[in-house]
Amino acid sequence: MIDLSVYIGGKKLKNPVLVSSGTFGFAKEYANFYDLKLLGGIAVKGITLKPRKGNKPPRIMETPAGILNSVGLENPGLDGFLEKELPFLRKYDVPIIANISGNTIEEYSLMAEKLNEHVDFIELNVSCPNVKEGGITFGTKPESIYEVTKEVRKATNIPLIVKLSPNVTDISEMAMAAEKAGADCISLINTLMGMAIDIDNRKPFFHNIVAGLSGPAIKPIALRMVWQVAQKVNIPIIGMGGISNWRDAIEFIMAGADAISIGTANFYNPLAPVEILKGIEEYMIKNNINSPKEIKINGGVVYHE
Ligand code: SIN
Repeated sequence: MIDLSVYIGGKKLKNPVLVSSGTFGFAKEYANFYDLKLLGGIAVKGITLKPRKGNKPPRIMETPAGILNSVGLENPGLDGFLEKELPFLRKYDVPIIANISGNTIEEYSLMAEKLNEHVDFIELNVSCPNVKEGGITFGTKPESIYEVTKEVRKATNIPLIVKLSPNVTDISEMAMAAEKAGADCISLINTLMGMAIDIDNRKPFFHNIVAGLSGPAIKPIALRMVWQVAQKVNIPIIGMGGISNWRDAIEFIMAGADAISIGTANFYNPLAPVEILKGIEEYMIKNNINSPKEIKINGGVVYHE
């Protein structure tokens, strides 16, 4: 009998396949494709204390094997989320991860406090590259990750996930700071900073010049970072970054992820998460593996002969 369940912060997820914040909206569109309760968890679009209109268009550009986005955290604000979006999500038996961004540590803490009894997990977004304040400014130094995580930890007693940016020299230092400050889980990676130029108009394609790159193009980098972080922390890891099929998902688990999250693939294949889940299950059956834990690093890959 295989058991697909995994634990994050002491909470059981029925399987290790999640969907990533910013790629699944508030789930309404995707509910037309499959029963959302099939998922291990849903990370909703990043929420801020007040509603945000997001960045001026263009906001998305297709690249070879990926996309650049400059969305700028468009969202209905915390109250809008609680009143207009959460009731729909709560119709499904699926854990909800509220991804939150603040301009200040106080804002992060206030949001965590208000969300405490409404959602299952909080994901601290210290890694959005598309906003002028907050976001990645908290996520590139271990000290600031430590500070914001420590304060948010005090404000909530539900499991706290810290979502890391790959735009740093050593991501494992960031992960260790989050763990030390009381995080229950690390999720990685958010987008890599990139840019594009419209050569006909001789202007940057995006108003912010720089945007976030995601999709299969970044998978090898994400995988390497998950592996690096897994060597240094003892809390669970949610691996993401360009996962587009079940083989990618197994690679991330072998590198040290406890769960994996599907992002950009949702845009071009809305069924990707359920197909990936099926693939993981079949792989486990074929290889006599009882739990995703057994696929993890020690039961899996031989790095050194
Ligand atoms: C955005 O809304 O700009 C993307 C969110 C993120 O990168 O965290």
